[in-house]
Amino acid sequence: MQGNNRREQWATKIGLILALAGNAIGLGNFLRFPVQAAQNGGGAFMIPYFLAFILMGIPLMWVECAIGRMGGRYGHGHTAGMFELLWQHPLAKYLGMLGIFIPFTVALYYIYINAWTLAYGYFSLIGDYFGVTSREAMGAYLRGFQGVESNQYFSTVTTSYTFFLITLAISMYIIYHGVSGGIERLAKIAMPLLFLIGVALMIRVLTFGTPDPNYPEHNVLNGLGFVWNPQPERLPHASLWLAAAGQIFFTLSIATGAIPTYASYMREEDDVGLTGLSTASLNELAEVVLGGTIAITAAVAFFGLAETQAIAKGGAFNLGFQALPMVFQKIPLGQLFGALWFLLLFFAGITSVVALAQPVMALFQDGLGWSRWHATCGVLAALFVLSQPVIFFLKHGFLDELDFWVGSFALVLFALIETIQFAWVFGMERGWNEIVKGAAIPVPRLFFYVIKYITPLFLVFILVAWAIQDVPNKIFMVGVKPEDVPYVWAARLMMVAILVSFGFLVKIASSKREKGFQR
Ligand code: TRP
Ligand code: TRP
Repeated sequence: MQGNNRREQWATKIGLILALAGNAIGLGNFLRFPVQAAQNGGGAFMIPYFLAFILMGIPLMWVECAIGRMGGRYGHGHTAGMFELLWQHPLAKYLGMLGIFIPFTVALYYIYINAWTLAYGYFSLIGDYFGVTSREAMGAYLRGFQGVESNQYFSTVTTSYTFFLITLAISMYIIYHGVSGGIERLAKIAMPLLFLIGVALMIRVLTFGTPDPNYPEHNVLNGLGFVWNPQPERLPHASLWLAAAGQIFFTLSIATGAIPTYASYMREEDDVGLTGLSTASLNELAEVVLGGTIAITAAVAFFGLAETQAIAKGGAFNLGFQALPMVFQKIPLGQLFGALWFLLLFFAGITSVVALAQPVMALFQDGLGWSRWHATCGVLAALFVLSQPVIFFLKHGFLDELDFWVGSFALVLFALIETIQFAWVFGMERGWNEIVKGAAIPVPRLFFYVIKYITPLFLVFILVAWAIQDVPNKIFMVGVKPEDVPYVWAARLMMVAILVSFGFLVKIASSKREKGFQR
């Protein structure tokens, strides 16, 4: 511990689980999952998805909780410090630094996306887009709002920028109030409300029946079928497995560094086994039951399969920000249901935003010994400045470049490094003891072998498949418009600059620690 600051802790066990669930449950559950499932074999997607959940999701959740709790014991809230405990080597901290770099960089665009949900909640409530009824027009409305084009709906990016500032302010306000006073209090309100709203929306969608008798095939059952009907012929395709594994990583928030940071605020007697399992289960409940029912089913019931497919092709956002606003215009109390849908997304998102910011907070507080106020100011300033290109260069693919390298590729890399550090460098016997110590449920011994052998092999397979399938095209910017190339380079430069900056901070933190006190 730096100085005589006592580290913070979660106030209650239920608060700890809700905070971790808030970390994991995000926009990915409600927007990304249904689109991934529908595009990758429907019900057949669930086979690799479920396997990835058991063989990577749950094991990594336990590993990350164990690493985090152990880190907290030594006053480390960030993975750079935690990795030094796993591997006494000068390089360890730089490997662990990825767990600060990833969440911080994802936050640069996640906050902006979360701001859109707040804005659209407001637009729903006041009926702003009511009357914009076609898919093309709703698309133009979204692009105008994002500042991608200037049109009759929005001529400048001012509106979305304003909501960005509001969202940033809300998340920093929560962060400033600390782990139990801010994040835990938020989760205790937002998580129950999220499930309540989710169930209400699910019931509303399931009772749509066949909204337009002229189109009998546009109905709820066909909507559910679109997400869930198995297409087993897709199973042999590697892309299906990659998509499923990628969704498991993304949705559980594993391999970003955010889970270990949250776990570092556990008390020594809080258990890893049940906490990890509850978090993963709550996330899957929100994802498979609520996320798998609401958005796509509603779109198919009103617009049919072909149209929904066309919308989903445009990405996860088109479903949430274009198709559903069209549905809300067709149902009674549509403004209210619209506001509820976007409020659901906002709650899901804001609890993830604070989780993305917390690892840097931990570096500033635990590593550099800053007060919470100074750490909050530092994080706020860094997020504010570095978000600017994400916002203003959105149309040039700046956000997508960050999302690919940091939000997708780096996750798998970090997961592999982390698993090897834990199971092979630290040693699986010691690691297992950390996982089962004080566990409120018997953690099946089978997972000892899963974590030691299967998880790393699975990760190597994914990394190699990716490196072959997607990475070369991405590196050489296949399909990038010539005029966007400088912006893609700028995004890469920014990522390198962030990485190097964190490298310096981590080095300072580590030398401070050596001078400061003995373990
Ligand atoms: N799990 C979040 C979602 O489903 C996204 C996410 C990935 C995340 N990694 C994270 C959120 C780390 C917070 C911290 O949308
Ligand atoms: N890659 C996502 C897609 O399928 C887009 C995305 C990036 C996203 N970050 C996200 C979706 C966060 C949901 C939440 O379109």
